[in-house]
Amino acid sequence: MTNELESLRSEVMDAAAAAADLGALESVRVGALGKKGSITALFKGLGGLEPEQRKLQGEALNRVKDEVAAAIEARQSELADAELEARLARERVDVSLPPRPTRLGRLHPISRTVEEMIAIFGEMGFSVATGPHIEDDFHNFTALNIHEEHPARQEMDTFYLPENAEGQRMVLRTHTSPVQIRTMQAVEPPIRIIVPGRTFRADYDATHTPMFHQLEGLVVDETTHMGHLKGTLVEFCRAIFGVEDLPVRFRASYFPFTEPSAEVDIGCSRAGGELKIGAGDDWLEILGSGMVHPKVLENCGIDSSRYQGYAFGMGIERIAMLKYGIPDLRTFYEADIRWLRHYGFVPLAEPSMVRGL
Ligand code: DAH
Repeated sequence: MTNELESLRSEVMDAAAAAADLGALESVRVGALGKKGSITALFKGLGGLEPEQRKLQGEALNRVKDEVAAAIEARQSELADAELEARLARERVDVSLPPRPTRLGRLHPISRTVEEMIAIFGEMGFSVATGPHIEDDFHNFTALNIHEEHPARQEMDTFYLPENAEGQRMVLRTHTSPVQIRTMQAVEPPIRIIVPGRTFRADYDATHTPMFHQLEGLVVDETTHMGHLKGTLVEFCRAIFGVEDLPVRFRASYFPFTEPSAEVDIGCSRAGGELKIGAGDDWLEILGSGMVHPKVLENCGIDSSRYQGYAFGMGIERIAMLKYGIPDLRTFYEADIRWLRHYGFVPLAEPSMVRGL
């Protein structure tokens, strides 16, 4: 081996050993073995030598090249190990750190209340029906025996849509009762449905919002009577408020679509300005009900001499406000995340409640 080759070899070996990181080592490799590297350059000079010389020099060069390559590779794994060690030391997990809070979404109290209502009525054999939010006059009023001049039409503060191509003004449904009509038109009795859903009236204060929710109920068959209506609603009131002996009162009332009609009150106390459900001798109205008016059955093509039934309707917000102590209806729809965190429910934290059944 020539002195020149020997000194190049030790120079490259020293540089590889001295390389402090993988980047520096890569520069050493390129400088010696790369396309324009110092060792690569010597290979190019072989062509001008005598055959005998070329063989000797070629062998020596190849040996040096392999040695240098092996040394660089060894240093490479040494440096990689050291870098990994350093990283492991630097990134050690601190198991004493508190966990990072995860933000769980909340179930809106309305969703929760609807779930509970469905669970209670579901146990009593009711199934859920739904209908459109935009209704025609027939389903929202006329078929429900609310004729043209009926004051209920004005009282409901109806949202009317602009006249359509048929000269008809559709409405945003003012109650869930049109789904009674749609169901009776679509299926033969026996019928046993509840209808949770959105309803709309042009009104806004602490107890009214332009959009709110109702839950409607309808039972139609050949044997149902007022006793079934009372039993079902007493059972429902006790289950939803979780008070086993909750006093429930039926007070004669009027609705165009039921005859007789009754409003349902639950027992409460208002002593000291604080409302307590199930205690005291005061009453709180929570829903409307009655036996389906024969005219309503006939409007849907159901023979009223053979079939009868009962219906009821209630505001879901009102139930949620009473049950969960929420004072202002408007806050339900302000989408304030702090409110939702306070009044909302952690989904799946507990199964839907069914009590008192
Ligand atoms: N539709 C009534 C309202 O919005 C509520 C209601 C009362 C529904 C009595 C009924 C019922 O089905 O029988 O005020």
